[in-house]
Parts: sequence; structure tokens; C-alpha cells
Amino acid sequence: MAKRKLIAAPSILSADLTRLGEEVLDCKNSGATYLHYDIMDGHFVPNITFGPDFIKSLSKYGVFNDVHLMIDDPLKYSKKCIDFGADLITFHYEAVEDAIEVQEQIRKLSPNVKVGLSIKPRTPIEKILPLINYFDLVLIMSVEPGFGGQKFIPSSLEKIKVLRKHIDEKGLNTLIEVDGGVNAETIESVRDAGADVVVAGSYVFKSKNKREAIQNIIGE
Ligand code: DX5
Ligand code: ZN
Repeated sequence: MAKRKLIAAPSILSADLTRLGEEVLDCKNSGATYLHYDIMDGHFVPNITFGPDFIKSLSKYGVFNDVHLMIDDPLKYSKKCIDFGADLITFHYEAVEDAIEVQEQIRKLSPNVKVGLSIKPRTPIEKILPLINYFDLVLIMSVEPGFGGQKFIPSSLEKIKVLRKHIDEKGLNTLIEVDGGVNAETIESVRDAGADVVVAGSYVFKSKNKREAIQNIIGE
């Protein structure tokens, strides 16, 4: 049986920042259609990465800009991310009081932007099932957010399966994105659980053969 084809979203957090443009082009030429930006504020997560300016610089490569906001106040920086070329803004359920209100406010900033909702490993999937139909994408964190290169948390697979069943039963178009610790050992279980989009940082940028890693994610 043919493998389910997935969308590969390399995370530039693990890229060689001294050659970032080349790295992005390599990913694009290897079949990646998304580019994953991990924006961290040092508050919501114990790390500080980069800001919306990176989106502005890398938009010229014409890849779908998948922006993962791990910040306390996602609305505060959403407009700048969108102005600089974000195609998808994903914020964390744990960072806001009212996720539905926040997604409405983000959609008012641009009619074309896609909006995603993310949950940390310790947040039960049942918390967000009633909200799914408001979002274009749900991002399941399969590591504790904050750093690349961590080990995949196996209990994430059950969350993906529950979400897949819910989306299929309701006939929703919401995509499932999985983020953290995905590599050659874990990709097939993530695919079989029902993911649509897979983020990979260290697996893509630390491997000797980026094309092979990306093609393996896609399922070519
Ligand atoms: C972690 C980030 C991930 C991370 C993935 O907080 O959200 O996107 O960069 O990196 P790997 O694939 O190395 O776990
Ligand atoms: Zn991420």
C-alpha cells in the first residue's frame, strides 16, 4: 500500500545560521514546501530564538511560512509576522485565556492567513477538541517546547490518533502538524497515527543527506 504523503516543514532553529539562505534553498529543492519558524520569547519557554525579521528575509525563497509562536502574547507580534510574510500563525493554547477570540483577532489582520493552535505534551487533547473547527491546523508538540534535538515523547502518538479520528468523524479540513523529535526512527509511527505535516529540525539539518531526510518524511 502506498505511503500517506506528508508535508515536510524543516525547522530553521537547527539550521546553520551562517548559511541560512543556502540551507532553505536546499530544503526547497529537496521537496520541502513549508518552512517552520520557532519564535520564542524566553518567557513562555526557557529559550530566546529570533523574531519576525527572519520571515521577511526568507520569504524571497517562496516557501510556505509556518510560524510557531512560543510567546506569552501571540497577538502582540502576529501583525508583524503577517506583514513580513507569515502564511500560517500557530499560537499555544496554554498562552492565552480565550483561543477562539485570539484566532478571530488574527484573522482580522489578514483574510488570507491560516491560523493554528498548539498544545504542549502535558495538555490533554480533549481540552481542545471542542475548538478544532475554528482552526486550519493543530500542532501537537511531541517534545517539551523550547529546544531542538530532544527525544520524541511516545504518548504523543495517542493524541494524534484521537485528533485524527475526531477530524475525520466531523469531516473537518483541519491539518494535524507534529513537532519535535521526529526522525528516521519515529516518522513512520507519526505517519500511521494520522499526521499531515511534520516538523523536523535536527533530523534535516544535522543529517549528512538533507534530501534523503526530507524525502523520507514526505514518504517518496
Ligand atoms: C521546539 C520547536 C521545534 C524544534 C524541532 O520547541 O517547536 O520546532 O525546533 O526540532 P527537532 O526536530 O530537532 O526536535
Ligand atoms: Zn516548532
